[in-house]
Amino acid sequence: MCRLLGLAPEPAPALPDQQSDIEGFAKMRFLFAMIWSVCATLEDEPRRKLDNWVREHEGIFPLKDTVYDYYVDERLQVFKPWEEKLPDNWRYNPSAGFHTILVPTMEFLRVQIIALDMLKAGYGVLIGGPTGTGKTFLIQGTLVSLDSSKYSTQVINMSAQTTAANVQDIIESRLEKRTKGNYAPAGGKKMIAFMDDINMPVRDYYGSQPPLELVRLWHDYGYWFDRAKQWRKNVKVTVPAVSR
Ligand SMILES: Nc1ncnc2c1ncn2[C@@H]1O[C@H](COP(=O)(O)OP(=O)(O)OP(=O)(O)O)[C@@H](O)[C@H]1O
Ligand SMILES: [Mg+2]
Repeated sequence: MCRLLGLAPEPAPALPDQQSDIEGFAKMRFLFAMIWSVCATLEDEPRRKLDNWVREHEGIFPLKDTVYDYYVDERLQVFKPWEEKLPDNWRYNPSAGFHTILVPTMEFLRVQIIALDMLKAGYGVLIGGPTGTGKTFLIQGTLVSLDSSKYSTQVINMSAQTTAANVQDIIESRLEKRTKGNYAPAGGKKMIAFMDDINMPVRDYYGSQPPLELVRLWHDYGYWFDRAKQWRKNVKVTVPAVSR
């Protein structure tokens, strides 16, 4: 939640003839960050309950739809419906392959916009949801939209056979050593490592999934260990994006 809140730019100074409501604006940003972090994983029914709860405590949202249907317009300092971000005249390209057609739905756009902001700021992203809901499609679509001169991407499709050593080797194969113990992506780029289907790796005797433990260690502390020499390897400017 704090990361999402921290992404918001400094509020622009109010124009001389404009009444600026800093408190109301800060409230909007706070509610938005809360809803799209701690409350983001809720499904339909709990989302309705949360909508009621927020509205009981805070009357700042427009009355129509739910609190999940709005984002903060930074320029006008108001809540705007996500729906307005949908392209008005979208048509599919009849000559494109069926499997390549991407229908920009509201769910797709809002998750994509938030995920992209987080990735660009260097924060990891986890996308969850039932099977076949477009998670893989969403992240892959987001990654191709990034400027390839600034970002490199690494896709790891996890399976029951994927081990922690596989994940480490695949990511390290794209890193180069900068100074002792510090590794970063080649070419001065930022790297986004997309790990798909992270629920797949088999559990060990203790019930944990070693590839996920490795990613968690890296995400929380920024390093992992050289398996032969047992010293620390700091893995820099690389962020994980995972889906399950
Ligand atoms: N917005 C969309 N526009 C067009 N097609 C979509 C969209 N969302 C999903 N699809 C289609 O749904 C299919 C399933 O999507 P995808 O493989 O990304 O699901 P998933 O959530 O990753 O599933 P799993 O959990 O099984 O990996 C894709 O082949 C894609 O063509
Ligand atoms: Mg998938």
